[in-house]
Amino acid sequence: MSYQIAIDGPAGAGKSTIAKRVAKEKGFIYVDTGAMYRAMAYFFITENIKPDDEVAIETKCGEADITICYENGEQVVLLNGKNVNGVIRTEEVGNMASATSKYPKVRERLTALQKELAERENVVMDGRDIGTCVLPGADVKVYLTASAKVRAKRRFDELAAKGEVCDISKIEEDIIKRDEQDMNRPIAPLRQAEDAVLVDSSEMSIDEVVEKIMSLCV
Ligand code: DC
Repeated sequence: MSYQIAIDGPAGAGKSTIAKRVAKEKGFIYVDTGAMYRAMAYFFITENIKPDDEVAIETKCGEADITICYENGEQVVLLNGKNVNGVIRTEEVGNMASATSKYPKVRERLTALQKELAERENVVMDGRDIGTCVLPGADVKVYLTASAKVRAKRRFDELAAKGEVCDISKIEEDIIKRDEQDMNRPIAPLRQAEDAVLVDSSEMSIDEVVEKIMSLCV
């Protein structure tokens, strides 16, 4: 049986930073499920499909073959065999991923892949519905959150470090809109699983959050 650590939470809560650290300390693989939704969204953008065109999305999503592999310990997302890591981290792709992840066919395909990965290997998996839908029997479940202000500031710093100039209030607006979309969709909405431990990282350092999660792993 594999050991499964599920980390869910809203955009910009620090899930991937924390999940990567925990995976490294435990020697597990890290599965970033948001990157898979982003790869799918990127595919829709390149196909000129609008986020509200349900028919096009449901018919076309079968043409996007998404897989992951690992290079030097880093997750690489392959879209129809091509590495798309370098193009999926933009706000445009993130917003498209949030808008298109509500469609059942998109979720079915990606959820199946995620379950398969977690059956084969010990994982730290992060996303929106990992503790509630993808891995309901996970050994450790964490709901990681932080205030919208703090999350916007973190995303702003991240983008600034990459040299992208942006408006922090626009980022906060986007974050709030994204939360609302992710929490209110009918299928697999973002919510804290009943047996998940709530960690509010607004006033915590990365080390403190990692330590907290490590202490939950027995
Ligand atoms: O974590 P992220 O910002 O990379 O995720 C992008 C979007 O993908 C997010 O707004 C909603 C969707 N997503 C999802 O619906 N389910 C997941 N398990 C992960 C992400």
